[in-house]
Amino acid sequence: LPPTTTIPSSLTLAATALTTSTASSFSTPVAFPTETVYGLGADATSSAAVKGIYLAKGRPSDNPLIVHVSDLDMLSAYSPIPEIYTELISQFWPGPLTILLPVPTSPPLLAPEVTAGLPTFGARMPDSALARTLIKLVGKPLAAPSANASTRPSPTKAVHVLEDLEGKIELILDGGDCAVGVESTVVDGLCDPPVVLRPGGVGIEEIRRVRGWEGVVKGYKDQSEIGEAQKPRAPGMKYKHYSPRARVVLFEGGKGVDVEAELAGERGKSVGVIRTEGWESLAGQEGEGRIESEEGDQGGFTVRQGALKDREGKELATVLDVDLGQDVKGVAHGLFAALRELDRLGADVIFVEGVSDGDDIAAAVMNRLRKAASETRV
Ligand code: TXA
Ligand code: MG
Repeated sequence: LPPTTTIPSSLTLAATALTTSTASSFSTPVAFPTETVYGLGADATSSAAVKGIYLAKGRPSDNPLIVHVSDLDMLSAYSPIPEIYTELISQFWPGPLTILLPVPTSPPLLAPEVTAGLPTFGARMPDSALARTLIKLVGKPLAAPSANASTRPSPTKAVHVLEDLEGKIELILDGGDCAVGVESTVVDGLCDPPVVLRPGGVGIEEIRRVRGWEGVVKGYKDQSEIGEAQKPRAPGMKYKHYSPRARVVLFEGGKGVDVEAELAGERGKSVGVIRTEGWESLAGQEGEGRIESEEGDQGGFTVRQGALKDREGKELATVLDVDLGQDVKGVAHGLFAALRELDRLGADVIFVEGVSDGDDIAAAVMNRLRKAASETRV
C-alpha cells in the first residue's frame, strides 16, 4: 500500500484480530467479504488460529480450507507455481478460481489443519479489494471457508454471517453484497487431464479455452443425470449442504412444470417460489393484496407475498414469490440470499425453478441447488 493511503479503522481492527504472534497465541477468526461469498478467515500458518474456524463453523475437520493470498509473491513463498497454472492465473486472478498446489514441506509452512492431511492445498487470490487489503495488512495468507454455519447456505451479505455465527465470532467486516454469489471454481492442474473439482464463478467453458486446459474434465458428481426411475429421490439421502431450514424442492426442467398444480399439494403451507427462466408469478396478482417485503437494494430481489386460492376463493397456500430473473449471473448472485430470506419469512417449503445446465456459471447454480434440495423433480 502507498504510505499515504488511509486505512479505515475497521480494516485495521480486523487485521489486528487476525494477527497471531508467538508472544500471545490469541487471535480470533474474522468474517470478510470476497466477490464470491463471505469467508471466515484466520492466519493460515497458525494451527491455533485455524482451529478457531472449525470451531466457529461446526465444520468437520477433514474438509480442507482454501488459502487466500493478496498477491503472487505471497503465494510463491509457499509453493512454486507449476506452469500449467500460469495462463489460468493471468486470466482469472484476482477472481473466483481456486487452484491446487503441493503442500509446502519447508518453511514457511501452512498449518496442517488447513489441508486436512491432503498432499495439496487450494489457493485463491480474491477479486475483492477489501479482502486483498486485509490479507496484505495481516501479511500472511488467510485460510478461509465460507462464513456460514456448516450445512447452511453460504453468506452473500454480512447479515447472513451474523445470522449463523453471532456469539461465535467477534468481527464481521461488512463489504456489502458479494458480486458473484456462488463460490469459486476449484481446479486441479497437477493431474492429467486437469480436473474441475467444484463448479463455481469461473465457467468450465472459459477454462477450456486456456492453453493446456482444453482437455479439462469434470471431477464432481451432482447427479444431474437422474433417471426417471430414481425420482423423486428419497429426502435426506444425501450429504446436506447449502440448506435452508425449509424443505427445498428443485424442478430440474423448470419451464414445463404446472406450478399451480404442485402448489395445490402443499395445502395450508407457506410456500416459497424461486423463479428463474420461465415460471410466471403466482403471488400478488390483480385483486389480491400485494405485500412487498424489503430487499430493495441493487442486484437484490423482491419477495411478493400472496395467497393461492381455489375456485371458491378458499385459501390454499401462502405464496412467497421471488423472481431472480432470466440472466444466470443474476440467479447466481441472488440464490443463497433468496433461500435465506424465504427461511426468515417462515416458508415451510421452497420450490425452485432450475436453470438450463451449461458449462458456465449455471453449472455452479445447479450444483448448489441439487445439494440444497431434499427432493428433485425432473
Ligand atoms: O469462493 C470461495 O471459494 C469461498 C470464499 C470464501 O473464498 N470459499 C469457500 O470455501 O467456498 P469452502 O471451505 O466453503 O469450500 C472449499 C472447497 C471445499 O469443497 C473443499 O473440499 C475444497 O474446496 N478444497 C479445498 N482444498 C482442497 C484440496 N486440497 N483438495 C481438494 N479439495 C479442496
Ligand atoms: Mg462452504
